[in-house]
Amino acid sequence: MHIRVFDTPELAGAAAAKILFSVFDQKPDANLGVATGSTPEPLYAQLREAHAGGKFTLANSKAFALDEYVGIPEDHYERYRNVLRRELVGEDKTGLKDENLFTPNGLISDSHAAAAAHDQAIKDAGGVDLQILGIGSNGHIGFNEPGGWLVPRTHVEPLSAQTIRDNARFFDGDISKVPTTCISQGLGTIMEAGVLLLLAFGENKAEAVAQLAEGPISAKWPATIVQMHPEVYVLTDTAAGSKLELTEMYEERWKLAFGE
Ligand code: GLP
Repeated sequence: MHIRVFDTPELAGAAAAKILFSVFDQKPDANLGVATGSTPEPLYAQLREAHAGGKFTLANSKAFALDEYVGIPEDHYERYRNVLRRELVGEDKTGLKDENLFTPNGLISDSHAAAAAHDQAIKDAGGVDLQILGIGSNGHIGFNEPGGWLVPRTHVEPLSAQTIRDNARFFDGDISKVPTTCISQGLGTIMEAGVLLLLAFGENKAEAVAQLAEGPISAKWPATIVQMHPEVYVLTDTAAGSKLELTEMYEERWKLAFGE
């Protein structure tokens, strides 16, 4: 995999945008897998800026969310469909059309059917060309929590105590307000995307990033599965990259591939 440690999240976001634009240069109607959480914000800011400058559009693309909370009210600020609408949908954002934003339906009573429908929508669209990923402090990607399987399709998942604590900041700091169940693209689904672009910022991601890149592949650290993907980019800030041991090797490999 390609790993690069940047001084700031903004620099990492700009480099991530460059990788994304090169995929869209090859395929202007590429399907995008979209993450939520705070991590992709610098990248989404770059996409909006490029769209405003007429250099990039998601007008011809479909976007597929990684995950959604089960049972979160339709108009809740933190419902991932609403988060992604605010970040990406509309001519004043990236040109993405609301009907082309696919999120698992956390509102219907049969969450398993909603999970299967999301997986099918991805298949029907011909798959995700580039998947944007963050990472949880416990090594989850999407909401694939530790101690599960490395192969599932989109499915219903219980949130771990760690994730509930981490995400309480989005719910007035109150863990009792954080939903306890979600629908997440499975690791098997994520691994079928053409390119994986993973961003990680902050000290609390350092152990997860070190495991992701240098740990043994294990369901204990779900993100380690990306070691088996042929085209992965991991872009971190200094804090999130601080526990990596093979940094020199990553720099050499990056220079060889990108000449910078
Ligand atoms: C969230 C999301 C993930 C995200 C991760 C990190 O709960 N389900 O897709 O990558 O946890 O969140 P953040 O970027 O806010 O640190």
